[in-house]
Amino acid sequence: VPPEAPQRPRFAVLRRIPEPALDLLGAAGDLQDAIAGADAALTLLYDRVDDALLDAAGPQLRCIANVAVGYDNVDVAACTARGVLVTNTPGVLTDATADLTIALMLSVTRRLGEGERLVRAGAPWSFDMFFMLGTGLAGKTLGVIGLGAIGQATARRARAFGMEVVYAGHHRVAEAVERELGGARFMSLDELLSSADVVTIHCPMTPETHHLIDAARLAQMRRTAFLVNTARGPIVDELALAAALHDGLIAGAALDVFEAEPNVHPDLLALDNVALSPHLGSATVETRTAMAVLAARNAIAAVRGEPPPTPVNPEVLPLALP
Ligand code: GLV
Repeated sequence: VPPEAPQRPRFAVLRRIPEPALDLLGAAGDLQDAIAGADAALTLLYDRVDDALLDAAGPQLRCIANVAVGYDNVDVAACTARGVLVTNTPGVLTDATADLTIALMLSVTRRLGEGERLVRAGAPWSFDMFFMLGTGLAGKTLGVIGLGAIGQATARRARAFGMEVVYAGHHRVAEAVERELGGARFMSLDELLSSADVVTIHCPMTPETHHLIDAARLAQMRRTAFLVNTARGPIVDELALAAALHDGLIAGAALDVFEAEPNVHPDLLALDNVALSPHLGSATVETRTAMAVLAARNAIAAVRGEPPPTPVNPEVLPLALP
């Protein structure tokens, strides 16, 4: 009797992802769009990975390859308890997200959305010394909450605009990084909020950072300051933000992420001093392709029992990883 042919691994791809990633997965196994029976699943950030989804997948599931750097949609503890590896896609989206952060910062400080709405509406306008004046960035202070990869890439760009960098977070970064950022100063969140001209959020969404920026924290900001969020919506209390903007407690906000995407609080929509984009941080052809390919490589490595490039819970792996 011939030995049983080894079964091809089954990859669940729950939503459309770029072709190069599908090609990789298709060469390594069989693709399916349902979770049941999968050995690995590629998930996006609106896919809630919890016990219900893990039950639906079945006990053969080895890996959740999240196609995002953030993994607040994944119950990592539940995965770890079942020996399911979780992976994410850090690195490949750092530049794209930092670019978008700067774009939003410029958009709100230079009133680009407001200007575009005016032009498109056919409203009368003319150049004059006081028409639609914004706020310059040179010599101002950027306060980075969470100086990880994206925070650092954003700060590096802000330096090119002549900004000083201060930061708050769990840890001080390496001195070489502080030096490269022109002597970036580590400080408490309280101090950052009261001293920064632009506050930009780059921490992950965790129970600890949920509504980190609430009414009290917004009140600590300067009345001339701007808040930028390209991390996760629920880090900011959206209702409190709308009130702070309405009451002039801060000068403006730029948001790529929202508490209940794709819904945006109607109070924010009514305000002119808010720049809005629909979760576009990593939305370039190059970056989305790189993210999907990295997720595919993670999934393939996991089903082969090889070390995956970017694990979130490497403790489930049989081999100790560096
Ligand atoms: C997108 O929001 C990501 O976390 O990659």
